[in-house]
Amino acid sequence: MTTAKGILLAGGSGTRLHPMTLAASKQLLPVYDKPMVYYPLSTLMLAGIRDILVISTPEDLPQFRRLLGSGERLGVRFAYAEQPRPEGIAQAFRIGAEWLTSEPVALALGDNLIHADQLSSLLRAAAGRAEGATVFAYQVRDPERYGVVSFDPAGRAAQIVEKPAAPLSNWAVTGLYFYDHRVAERVARLSPSARGELEITDLNRLYLEDGTLHVERLARGCAWLDAGTPDSLLQAATFVQTIQARQGLLVGCPEEVAFRMGYIDAAHLRAEARRLGKTELGRVLGELADGAIV
Ligand code: DAU
Repeated sequence: MTTAKGILLAGGSGTRLHPMTLAASKQLLPVYDKPMVYYPLSTLMLAGIRDILVISTPEDLPQFRRLLGSGERLGVRFAYAEQPRPEGIAQAFRIGAEWLTSEPVALALGDNLIHADQLSSLLRAAAGRAEGATVFAYQVRDPERYGVVSFDPAGRAAQIVEKPAAPLSNWAVTGLYFYDHRVAERVARLSPSARGELEITDLNRLYLEDGTLHVERLARGCAWLDAGTPDSLLQAATFVQTIQARQGLLVGCPEEVAFRMGYIDAAHLRAEARRLGKTELGRVLGELADGAIV
């Protein structure tokens, strides 16, 4: 079990999903059968992280508290903090400055979904790394929409650029980042970009420049999706529905992860399953608690 902490960043205005996000937080919109934020939350929990700071807007934070509570239900601890304006992803570390310790910290964007074989061991390795930063890269068709990392002929990360007009590779940097204890000091050195944001890519570049940025390339069998537009939201929902219906296994279910990671026992999981009533999710969690699914 790691001592790393985790930040779940779920602010922003979700303008690309208007009018759906005019009166509701993007990260609470459904992705098939669960709120969007459950997917990155499950990822942090799979990394062995049990101390999680949830950051959202002053308007939306009460809804996150209502959904997630203290965390006891999942065998984890949630703390909450407001981001008054969307002034950049890296601002999360300034907002969380007092909550951070000398332990490593992971940051997960509230609209990112990763589904992969052996994900837990990959994540636990990143969370256990005491020095440097770890990011995950994924091959995409439209790299200009993302932070992009390019590699030298020896396969080492060479450059990292935010939304380049002419990308040097098709490797996008996903919205899941792990940093060592130096993160706060490094974020203090950042200044806002031309669009007025503290850029996560600028933070990653500081680590790259001193040779301590680890880039894990996700294999082609992995799925990385974000759900920030109507099309990607629908694609994410279809993806989850397809895998769950085919395998009878769950994608991005924090109750399941809590049980598999040993944060809660079978009796506790059964109680959570009952809380979900007559849903398919409740039925599958009940079977898991009874040992009918392994
Ligand atoms: O999804 C991965 C990409 O996320 C990375 O490849 C990029 O390097 C990174 O900059 C980011 O790009 P986006 O264009 O997706 O960033 P966006 O501004 O949409 O923010 C991503 C999420 O973080 C979104 O759900 C809203 C939230 N957010 C964003 C900002 C800037 C906040 O909560 N607060 C903020 O200040």
